[in-house]
Order: sequence, then structure tokens, then C-alpha cells
Amino acid sequence: MFYKKENSVTAIENISLTIEDGEFVCLVGPSGCGKTTLLRILAGLENQSSGDFTIEKTDQNRPNQSMVFQERGILPWLTVEENVAFGLNMRHLSKSFIKERTTYFLNKVGLSKFAKMYPKELSGGMKQRVSIARAFANDSEILLMDEPFGALDEQNKYILQEELLSIWSETKKTVLFITHSIDEALYLSDRVLLMSAQPGKIVSEINIDLPRPRKLEDIRTDPEMTSKFIEIWNHLQVEVQGSRL
Ligand SMILES: Nc1ncnc2c1ncn2[C@@H]1O[C@H](COP(=O)(O)OP(=O)(O)OP(=O)(O)O)[C@@H](O)[C@H]1O
Ligand SMILES: [Mg+2]
Repeated sequence: MFYKKENSVTAIENISLTIEDGEFVCLVGPSGCGKTTLLRILAGLENQSSGDFTIEKTDQNRPNQSMVFQERGILPWLTVEENVAFGLNMRHLSKSFIKERTTYFLNKVGLSKFAKMYPKELSGGMKQRVSIARAFANDSEILLMDEPFGALDEQNKYILQEELLSIWSETKKTVLFITHSIDEALYLSDRVLLMSAQPGKIVSEINIDLPRPRKLEDIRTDPEMTSKFIEIWNHLQVEVQGSRL
């Protein structure tokens, strides 16, 4: 895949990747290497100048993808439950189905009590929960998540990571998740894709075969995880230095 902006910056180049149904894949790479660009292309929010991608449908009534952004993405004029129901309402599904699904995912992310509130009354972590509940409620083929926990404090981040894994293991959704955190990538994913500095290419992939359910401390104590951490860290060091030259 090749992407050129008007000022002729090549953001990403020669990206070839296959993600299996139900797989959780993390994308890690230096700032500015084109991770968001890749996700936006997959979300249909940007056009690539050449190349193509296909999202295979397992159900024709399902949307292709839902995106979870770092901080944006929930609508301030809608209540929490209206935000979660947004995609479902757009598909004109039955009111009772929408209510049931919305209630289910609000409960999953611990926001049932806040259903009638507006985003301005919520903390950053709660807003991210709304985004996550909405993305899962939407039941799309693939979830595209762009550093959804990047702005959160450590405790909230861990809680949301656990919630995400619990909903993912229940729904078996396909997830492509961008993160700057190596720990997060090791904890969450089945596979880590490493990108080079701009123009971004996928230069390496690392399988994370740690059994699930995982515990956060496994990332620190399992020797194989430690060596994978170091492998990713070394790669990032080189690429980050390269991107600053
Ligand atoms: N709206 C834009 N206009 C022009 N160039 C852009 C625009 N958005 C991104 N770019 C270019 O594309 C490159 C890739 O940007 P992108 O946002 O995809 O990087 P990223 O890997 O997501 O970075 P970060 O980790 O900091 O979020 C940037 O270096 C920038 O030069
Ligand atoms: Mg980005």
C-alpha cells in the first residue's frame, strides 16, 4: 500500500498484511511512521494512492469496521447510551434489539449507572469506555483502535485493558490496535507488527504465544516475554533514532 499526500510525503509504503478472523494484532512503530494513516485508510477515512485491501464479510449485515480514537470520537450532544447506540441506530435495527445490545455493552464496561449522562460529565477513562462499548456494540468485522488508552493514567489503563480483553475473548472480534507501549502490545496481542520510520513499512512481526487469560505480571516474569520486550525495544530505538535524523 502506498500513500501520498498533496505535499508529497510518503506516509506508508509496501504494506502487506493479513489479519485472521478473531485475531488481536498490535501495530508498534516510531511516531510519524504512518500507523494512524494506515488505520484511517482501513477505516475508509483516507484514500491510498495505490494498493488495495479487503475486509471479508462473515455477515452481510455487519459493518466492515469501527474505529476507536485516542480521545475523540464520542458525540458531546448525545448521552452515553445514545453514543453507544449510535451505529446501531444508523442501521435502523429494532428498538428492542438496540436497547438490549446497548445495555449489555454499557454493563460490560461498567457504565450502566451513567447511561443518561453526557460526555462532558465523564472522566477521560469513562469516555474511552463509551468508545469501546460503542465499537463492540456495532458488531463490525474489525475493530481499529488508535492508541485508545494512550492518554489514560496507569490504573485506568490496566482496568480498560482487562475489560477490553474480557470483551474480546467473549466476542472474538478481529482487532487492529495501535500502541506506543511495548507492555500493552505484549499483554494484549496475538501478534505484534513492527513498523519502520517514515515511510512506514512493516519490518518484522512477533508472535505472542503467551496463554490466555493473561496476567499483567506475566509480561514481566516470563523470560520469553522479556526477550520479546527487548527485541521490540531494540527495534524501536533504532527506528526512533532514524526518524529524528
Ligand atoms: N493531515 C496531514 N497532512 C499532511 N501530512 C500528514 C497528515 N497526517 C499525517 N501526515 C504525515 O504522515 C506521516 C504519518 O503520520 P501518522 O499520523 O500516520 O503517524 P503515526 O505513526 O500515527 O504517528 P504517532 O505515533 O505520532 O501517532 C507524518 O509523518 C506526516 O508527515
Ligand atoms: Mg498516530
